[in-house]
Amino acid sequence: MQAILVTGGCGFIGSNFIRYLLTESGYEGRVVNLDKLTYAGNPENLEEIARQAGQRYRFAKGDICDPAAVRAIFQRERIDAVCHFAAESHVDRSIVGPGAFIETNVQGTFTLLEVAREFAADVKLFHHVSTDEVYGSLGPVGYFTEETAYRPNSPYSASKAASDHLVRAYHHTYGLPVTVSNCSNNYGPYQFPEKLIPLMILNAAEGKPLPVYGEGRNVRDWLHVADHCRAVWAVMQRGRRGQTYNIGGRCERVNIDTVTLICDLVDEMLPDPGAGPRRRLITFVKDRPGHDLRYAIDCRKIETELGWQPRETFESGLRQTIQWYLDHREWVERVRSGEYQRWVKLHYGA
Ligand code: NAD
Ligand code: TYD
Repeated sequence: MQAILVTGGCGFIGSNFIRYLLTESGYEGRVVNLDKLTYAGNPENLEEIARQAGQRYRFAKGDICDPAAVRAIFQRERIDAVCHFAAESHVDRSIVGPGAFIETNVQGTFTLLEVAREFAADVKLFHHVSTDEVYGSLGPVGYFTEETAYRPNSPYSASKAASDHLVRAYHHTYGLPVTVSNCSNNYGPYQFPEKLIPLMILNAAEGKPLPVYGEGRNVRDWLHVADHCRAVWAVMQRGRRGQTYNIGGRCERVNIDTVTLICDLVDEMLPDPGAGPRRRLITFVKDRPGHDLRYAIDCRKIETELGWQPRETFESGLRQTIQWYLDHREWVERVRSGEYQRWVKLHYGA
């Protein structure tokens, strides 16, 4: 691989991945980042890398749903691999407005696949980044394996499931060399503050209510974004073509425990003794419709086949992430002042 097209590289995971690829992975080729810059995409996430990497990094503002724009990039940049992150990614938004999810996640993935097929002679790999949410919801026991049947429950997960199926079909039907990864919930630097962990960190730091959906008993399996990036690169390099790899941190947490841990760490790292413990800010709000109870990944396949293992523990990763948000208040203000105006606040009054 000499010229990798990364889609959605200005978002949370995509920007961490490009930084990793250009600085730590050992990859010596070029990266072209195609991003539409929706509310979730911020080119500032890669400003420093863009300066350091020189000719090895190029940014193209554009929509993955636009075949002419995608085709022009393949042609101009001699793309020989794709790592596809671009998506609408927030479940709550998909409940209020599913249209954009079908457009970007389904139509956009289809467009990329079609162009990759046109350039089949050059394309060595199409890696598709997906989620464990395609498998649906678990009860109190059991794990998602690569063989688990798809049962997506939200418009977000249904649109990702559709895109996974298209990628698989392009391998089966046209022989496109694809790999797919299905990862659990990520956290870490540069995550848009609509998702649970950054939202709670910032609200706790600012003394605002912490809206916990339902009774806070839902379980998520957390993975630090740096571990996800290493896993994606391992799959791209060594994964068998046509295969799916589950990625997870063996780190299940009940939401309310995650929120109380964040409260306690913020108390320690940003003391505000006059105001009392941050746990006082926890506010139980109306549950998300169709809220999946539990996600938990069986990641033995990637561990045994590719030798990948998570490095970060939840405690240390969370501490590092909290410090990052406390140190990057200007970044936070800039992403918040975009079109997005604290969606959760609007809908839950919290
Ligand atoms: P994000 O919302 O932070 O970033 C998405 C990026 O895609 C943004 O930069 C946005 O501008 C760009 N984008 C959106 N629509 C586009 C379009 N039509 N054309 C070009 N660019 C477009 O998302 P994220 O959390 O970084 O997730 C990245 C990928 O990883 C997604 O495919 C998501 O489904 C998957 N994933 C995320 C998680 C998680 O916990 N965040 C877990 C597993 C898998
Ligand atoms: P989220 O970060 O939106 O990820 P996902 O829905 O893709 O798992 O939410 C993580 C969990 O936290 C999920 O169970 C919903 C819950 N949640 C809250 O309780 N309050 C919130 O304000 C948010 C954003 C999420």
